[in-house]
Amino acid sequence: MEFVRNTWYAAGWSEEISRTMLPRTFLNEPVLLYRKEDGTPVAIADLCPHRFVPLSLGKLVGDTVECLYHGLAFDCTGKCVDNPHGNGLIPKAARVRSYPLTEQYGLVWIWMGDPVLADPALVPDFVWLNTPEKYRAVHGTINLKANYLLVMDNLTDLSHAGFVHVTTLEPRELAKASYEVIEEEGRVWTKQFVPSMPVPPLMNIVKGFTGVLDHWLEMRCDPPGCMITYYGFTTPGRPREEGWGTYNPNIITPETDNTTHYFWGSARDFDLDDEEITQKFEVGAAYAFEHEDRPIIEAQQKILQGRELMDLKPVLLQNDQGSGRARRIITRKIKEERAAAEAIHDLAEQAVAAE
Ligand code: FES
Ligand SMILES: [Fe+2]
Repeated sequence: MEFVRNTWYAAGWSEEISRTMLPRTFLNEPVLLYRKEDGTPVAIADLCPHRFVPLSLGKLVGDTVECLYHGLAFDCTGKCVDNPHGNGLIPKAARVRSYPLTEQYGLVWIWMGDPVLADPALVPDFVWLNTPEKYRAVHGTINLKANYLLVMDNLTDLSHAGFVHVTTLEPRELAKASYEVIEEEGRVWTKQFVPSMPVPPLMNIVKGFTGVLDHWLEMRCDPPGCMITYYGFTTPGRPREEGWGTYNPNIITPETDNTTHYFWGSARDFDLDDEEITQKFEVGAAYAFEHEDRPIIEAQQKILQGRELMDLKPVLLQNDQGSGRARRIITRKIKEERAAAEAIHDLAEQAVAAE
């Protein structure tokens, strides 16, 4: 399967990457994550070029990784810096790939494409995750046995909440609300506003509200993997600034063709110091993703057996517009990257032929 490569993918929450080596697969490539002694995160291929043993089985010595099998040692740029055998000469091919990283918003991001293009400013804004003076945030990681596009479809489709999350998040009335889908410079917005809607379960659970509230639900999607859902309420007719807002990053990274890393977060702008509400958000969000979304998405994956959903000509509903646009952006980016790679390949061939 082809993936967009020239983009920042979430590799892990900051606290997941430590002085203990963490093996993780991204886009079908085994990667080893760890921190240098000064705290800088490092990502190198988790594959010794000698006998293709995962380097993560070895040990971290200072900032270098020593392979368990025969002791070749690699630094954080992927260069072999020690060969304990014979005269100690280091073969030219004894190096592994290293990947650019940037640490922002409490996440470590990895660039799986051309390192020259890895501009840290390209990470979408997730300020809600690390601004504790304005927002209280919780987060978690799950792994889904499904292709990332199925996960993206789920997250960009706001309407499923009124069916799948009917006891935790939204009432069924949500499905009737009109949609606005906006595409701007490779970003897709899906927006809903529902005046005077019965209080959603979440706000009943955390605030004890009953009756009706005005409700907004908006999804910002930067394909392929960076999404955030804005979910909030006001008393009917009152401006948004007077209400209760939540900001829910949904960041996905393809692990393999058939599995996905899912980094979820949930931040709120009210009752910042109420620990009980924080707990409810943490438990509620984890429950919704683990027990409500996961079974559906993984069942889809099983039925599809690797076939591409769109090739099967699925029935389309109004709520599929957001994911449809995001899928088209992904397809376009993959084609652009393929065309650029082919152009470079052709130039290289011409240069060789000219020699
Ligand atoms: S497999 Fe790593 S040094 Fe031999
Ligand atoms: Fe969901």
